[in-house]
Amino acid sequence: MNQKEVIVTGGMGYIGSHTTVALQNAGYSVFILDNLSNSDIGVLDGIYRITGVRPGFKKLDCTDISGMRRVFEKHYNAVGVIHFAAHKAVGESVSNPLMYYRNNLNGLINVLDMMGTFDIPNLVFSSSATVYGQPDSLPVTEDTPLKPATSAYGQTKVMGENIIADAVRANPGIRATLLRYFNPIGAHPSGQIGERPNGVPNNLMPYICQVAAGQREYLNIFGNDYDTPDGYCVRDYLDINDLADAHVAAMRHLQSGGSGVNVYNLGTGRGQSVMQLVDAFQRATGVNIPYKITSRRAGDVSSIYANADRAARELNWRAVVPLHETLASAWRWQKKLAKSK
Ligand code: NAD
Ligand code: UFG
Repeated sequence: MNQKEVIVTGGMGYIGSHTTVALQNAGYSVFILDNLSNSDIGVLDGIYRITGVRPGFKKLDCTDISGMRRVFEKHYNAVGVIHFAAHKAVGESVSNPLMYYRNNLNGLINVLDMMGTFDIPNLVFSSSATVYGQPDSLPVTEDTPLKPATSAYGQTKVMGENIIADAVRANPGIRATLLRYFNPIGAHPSGQIGERPNGVPNNLMPYICQVAAGQREYLNIFGNDYDTPDGYCVRDYLDINDLADAHVAAMRHLQSGGSGVNVYNLGTGRGQSVMQLVDAFQRATGVNIPYKITSRRAGDVSSIYANADRAARELNWRAVVPLHETLASAWRWQKKLAKSK
């Protein structure tokens, strides 16, 4: 059994696949559990083409406790688990909250249960900036008070963080790191893996890419009357490969010892408005993005960006990829996706 194996749930998805590449490049071996509800098996080929290594893979739903037991029994020597597997569409979570609670919370509970049963010590959890709601001051640090979640999806992240804290308190053999992601965008520079939105994209970057590719006529910009410098919503967009590297740093940090629960914001520390991102995309790719201003989207906060100093200090991690490279990688991936259809 490999002494540096990491079990990655949801490893076939957008963030999980890039993290698998980063882990393999850092010398870890990876075993992926994914039910392929929002990804496809071809991702394994992309990972192989980039790293020359095919990660282990089992098609499995994390809510299936007997299936989880069978896998963890075989991989009891793993140094840790990175738990990505979750549903993530905010709007869908409002119309179907039980599906979100069932999937996101039962999956997490099973992961913690199996880690306790098989003495696997280190957990990295995908949390989200959504736990801060609309903060009273910016940028947000990890000590910024959390606001009530505005969607069932957001609730699953707040509740997930609390469930982990309780489980770790009860079992000091487990330590955990909660990573609060801001807005990951872009793709691997090789063009071999990237984001595959299902149907109409909910998120800004894949929507812009589909407009650029001519798949959609124009971008709907949700509101230009926010209390921000140019009236458009502000977010902290970070490169997906930087985000992937943060998981390697977090796993290494957990392995170096300590106890309890760590929390880190992962962002660039810079806020960009929707219009600034559209302009930057046009400059980086030379492609024009037609748009229309529409009404605000329910649940959107006007402005949020990270103070990620703690991750710099304790994990030695910073977002480093320049925005124009990130946008070029997103566009490269979009062109490849369009060709493969
Ligand atoms: P994704 O949908 O691309 O990846 C999630 C993967 O998990 C998919 O491959 C899906 O098939 C799998 N999955 C879902 N439920 C499962 C289950 N019960 N059992 C096994 N596999 C299951 O999403 P992503 O963007 O890669 O997000 C990964 C994690 O990061 C999620 O927890 C998400 O909530 C969190 N997150 C994402 C963002 C973002 O902007 N993408 C921001 C903050 C937090
Ligand atoms: N937007 C548009 N048009 C679109 C899509 C988005 O104008 O077609 C705007 C939104 O109003 C928002 C910005 O682009 O101002 C970013 O929206 P995204 O949907 O890309 O991202 P969010 O910030 O809403 O949400 C993302 C993830 C969540 C996560 C959250 C944390 O999707 O999972 O970041 O801040 F919880």
